[in-house]
Amino acid sequence: MDQDTFRSLYQCSPDVAFRAPGRVNCIGDHTDYQGGLSLPIAISLATTVCLGWRDDAQVAITSEFESERWSGSLLEVHQRAQERPLQGLYGFVVAAVDLLSIERGFNLSVTSTLPAGSGLSSSAALALSLIACLTYPQTLPPARLIPLAQAVENQYLGVSTGILDQTAITYAKAGQAVLIDAGQRSQETIPFDFASAGYRFWIIDTKTPRSLAASAYDTRVDEAQRASQALGLPNLRQANPGDWQRIADPVLLRRARHIITENLRVQAVVEAAGRSDWAEVAELLSQSHQSLRDDYDVSTAILDRTVEAVLGIQNRLVRGKAGARLTGAGFGGSVVALVPEAASSLLQDALQGAFEPAERPVAIAVDQASEGLKRLLPE
Ligand code: GLA
Repeated sequence: MDQDTFRSLYQCSPDVAFRAPGRVNCIGDHTDYQGGLSLPIAISLATTVCLGWRDDAQVAITSEFESERWSGSLLEVHQRAQERPLQGLYGFVVAAVDLLSIERGFNLSVTSTLPAGSGLSSSAALALSLIACLTYPQTLPPARLIPLAQAVENQYLGVSTGILDQTAITYAKAGQAVLIDAGQRSQETIPFDFASAGYRFWIIDTKTPRSLAASAYDTRVDEAQRASQALGLPNLRQANPGDWQRIADPVLLRRARHIITENLRVQAVVEAAGRSDWAEVAELLSQSHQSLRDDYDVSTAILDRTVEAVLGIQNRLVRGKAGARLTGAGFGGSVVALVPEAASSLLQDALQGAFEPAERPVAIAVDQASEGLKRLLPE
């Protein structure tokens, strides 16, 4: 399908195509830039980039998804790299061409089922699949690919991000979650078979897109840094439970408390998943939301109402537990929920009851964790 789009646009077949899934972070938010832990899974919604090299120095890009089109010379693309921050698909292409010193023209198509601005990492998926296409047949090791994709957003688009999204998408495996230790720059995949235990994850998109650049994300990064300085530590991953009490500034104290307790919750989820205690995982998700809401101040009224709607089904469950939290940076975007599969229609009813149709969040079921970045072409 994605390759057909390319063919109909450019009347030839692409040379290379990569597919990058979105991710949902099950737990561990606002920890990565303080050397902390997070536990994302890849989802089935994805972005596909198809690329065909040209014999001249022209570039043509088309995104069916954002109905964005551009064509011009490679020289112009290189010159635009000085205009920062860049925006849109064109901005991603300019950044990647500049970072990788591309000197040959190409045609590009981008198709995607991933909604932008929903906290599902559509930006990291685009940056990774674009870089993978432009560098093929070289296969960049993750240790190079991930910082390059991060640089696209940090250096060119003016968006601060940690390495959570890029690492999740690069390493994801079907049926597994990726435990990321940002401080160690390490990751491992762990079995995450909630489906066999009769549970489902849901992504509940509040359709209130947030732009990271315009949000208070950078302020939080800065506050977290000041909190770790107040404790005399290189980052808050080095802190012990209770250390936050030594911080005089009440705002920085709360920021530190969130990050320190969130790292502990990630570890607790890994342990609970290991013994297939999904009710405990659900409970930890809800605790994470409280911390993100009260200590980290990254929730919004609609995110809170969505979480409350999910937790409201609790007393109607025959067995198991429901849990929910905002996922990603917050300030809008999506909620991730863990609900017994038998209660799927209860969840839908709860959302219908809690919201008028126009503002009702869209719930997408995640039946299992998906695979990560993948080459589609050449096969
Ligand atoms: C955004 C960033 C990530 C991470 C999350 C919050 O998604 O891109 O690196 O900081 O916010 O956990």
